[in-house]
Order: sequence, then C-alpha cells, then structure tokens
Amino acid sequence: MGLGTLGWWARMWGWEPWVGATGYPRGMKVARRAEIAPFYVMEVMKAAAEREVMTGDVLHLEVGQPSTPAPDTVLQAAKRALESDRLGYTTATGTPELRERIALYYEERYGLRIDPVRIAVTMGASGGFVLAFLAAFDVGDRVAVTRPGYPCYRNTLEAFGVEAVSIPIGPETRFVPTSKLIAAAGDLDGLILASPANPTGTALNPAELADIATYCRNNGIRLVADEIYHGIEYGVQVPSALSVEPEAVVLQSFSKYFSMTGWRLGWMIVPDELVRPVERLAQNLFISPPTISQLAAVAAFDATDELDANVARYAENRRLLIDGLGSVGLVHFASPDGAFYFYIDVSHLTDDSQDLCRVWLDELGVACTPGIDFDPVLGHRYVRMSYSESTADIAEATERIADWVRSEQSM
Ligand SMILES: Cc1ncc(COP(=O)(O)O)c(C=O)c1O
Repeated sequence: MGLGTLGWWARMWGWEPWVGATGYPRGMKVARRAEIAPFYVMEVMKAAAEREVMTGDVLHLEVGQPSTPAPDTVLQAAKRALESDRLGYTTATGTPELRERIALYYEERYGLRIDPVRIAVTMGASGGFVLAFLAAFDVGDRVAVTRPGYPCYRNTLEAFGVEAVSIPIGPETRFVPTSKLIAAAGDLDGLILASPANPTGTALNPAELADIATYCRNNGIRLVADEIYHGIEYGVQVPSALSVEPEAVVLQSFSKYFSMTGWRLGWMIVPDELVRPVERLAQNLFISPPTISQLAAVAAFDATDELDANVARYAENRRLLIDGLGSVGLVHFASPDGAFYFYIDVSHLTDDSQDLCRVWLDELGVACTPGIDFDPVLGHRYVRMSYSESTADIAEATERIADWVRSEQSM
C-alpha cells in the first residue's frame, strides 16, 4: 500500500493528516462552514490513480464520468475558437448563442418552450448548485435530499448554513422518493430531486414526478431538479420537471450525455423571480462561465449520433454487469433506468463496504466507491459501480469480481 492509499484510508476514517503537516499553522481559525465531508469519490479516484502509476493495472468503476472525449464537432469548434477568438469574459449567464441553442434543445427534446432569459450557463451543474442554493434558500432553511443521494447536495447546502433534511429511500420504492416520504420530512423550504439519480440510476416516471411536483406546489416547497443524466436512458425517456412544474429550478450539464466533463459547463433554468438574483450572484461569484467551452458547446447538440453511440455502449456494459454479477448472487440493486451506475447491496459479503472496496482495489485492481459517500447511515452495506468505461474494461472487472466472490463463497 503506498502513501497515497494510506492517506485515502486515513481520510475515509475522518483523519485529515495534512492539516498541520504542510506548514499550515494549527490553531488559526477555519470557518465552520468548511467543515463539510469530503466527496469520497474523489478520494477513491486519487488512490486508484496512485495504484495505476505503481502497477499500471486499475479498472475504473469508481469514476462517474464518460470515458470518451467531447464530440468531434465540439473539438473542431474549440480549435476554431482558439485560432480566431479573443476568449475574453462573456456575460455572466452565458453567450446568447448558447442560451438560444439550449432553449431550442428543450423544444426538440421535450416539446417545451423556454425563454432564453430564464437560462443561465454555469460552471457545470456544480456551479449551478451554488447559484441555485444561494438564490433560493436562506441560512436555517430546511431542504430535503434523498439518502442515498449525490453527496454534494447535502455538503454544499450545509456549507451554506442550510439544513439538509434526509429522506430515506430504499428498494421498496426502487430508490425513488414519493410524496408520502417527503411529507414525513415535515416542513420544508425546498426539495432536491435527481432523476435519473446518482448512485442508483433509477428515475421517476411521469405520474410519480407529477405527484411530487403537486405536493411541493401545495406546500410551498421549491423544487430543484437535477437532470444531469437526461439523455443517458435505457428504454425510457425521463420527463423534465419543467413538464409538470414550470416554476421548477432545473440543473443540467455538458458533463454526462454530452461527454464534456472537464470543460466545466452546464446550465440552469430558473423561474422569473430568480432570473436577476442568479445573474447578480453569477456576476459576483464567477464573472462568467468558461468562454472556449461555451463557444464549442453550441456544436454538442447536433452530435447526437456520436453521443447516442456512447449510450449504446453504456447499455451493453449495463447488460454485462447484470449478467456477470447476477451469476454470483450480486443481485440486490434496483435496475437502473439511466445514468451509468449500479448501487449494489453487498451486506451478504461484508458489513463494511469501505473495506470491501479497499480489498477489491488492492487484490483485484478494480476501483469501486463505497456507499458511505451517498448514504452516511446505511452506505456501509452498499457499493456503487460505474459502467462508463470501455466494454472490455467492464467485462474484465466483472470477471475479476465474480471470481473473487466465488472464491470467498467456496471458503
Ligand atoms: C447527480 C449529479 N449532479 C451533479 C454532478 C456534477 O456535475 P458537473 O460536472 O456538471 O458539475 C454530478 C457528478 O457526478 C452528479 O452525479
């Protein structure tokens, strides 16, 4: 085990060894809002990268990103922009061309007419969360997030002094929330909804989404919908929250379907009353989203053949994993409707999925993410596997894990 791996496990157990060890003076004040949990996936990625340097052998099922570059037309547009554009700041909420193209996308894909004024281009969905949470919620507000769920919602809300209220979801509802579960959380100011969700890949059908939207509307709860995995769907078309709640705040990104993770670009659609607040916050916090990414991203919407081929590969990877893991009894997960994740109950193998992930990385060279990132209470029973890498890698990883489970069971 190398130093980096040791550091990872130390951090996973809550010990942050670098504080005080890098010349940072102990005893100086660190803001309480900075005491948020790490995003453990990034820690796993670090340990996997270190093993990769040392052994050259890691199969990446921990990363939640496409293994492909941006579409060719986007790369060409970026090259043209480099040669011909000054690449200065843009307006804070993005170029008019990109916002208009995004509006057209909503008409093409969902049949929805969105005024480009309501669209703000952001630094990934992550930048959108910052703007949305600051614009919509005050310190002390109560905003519900699902457990399991994408950890940065909870961590970011808490950094802003907003109370993140957990809504436990499980296999009984295919890991999607219901209005009854939301009602059990008491008085709320907001709800963050992801469909398809990370880490489960399960999505709300139109009736379930409409039911939740009605509950939110009737109870004055602001609905914030993270639609980052739209486009990566298996046999369903997931509805946008805007089709049932025109006042919803919607977050989207070029990181997943559009295969542009490192370009750090996304967008948000906000109701009228948040247009100026979001613009003012964006001006002050970020000045503008990355210019070259915006100029290139306009071309992404017409690269559907290339992007749909990626989705076909994810579908094949999903099938391989279902078959391969199923052959050794790893069957306790909700069948994903979209995204590229399985959230698997491994409690028959271990009560400590962090330890299981360490063993799989050390012994098999397969990197997976322990469930504690997504669910601080029950995550120790779950592992998240991402199947966004090449089909050859996913087939090899499935085989290594299946062999390992067989050998454990024969002991
Ligand atoms: C559900 C969800 N929302 C948002 C993000 C952040 O995406 P972006 O790269 O657009 O900031 C991720 C990244 O994995 C995610 O899984």
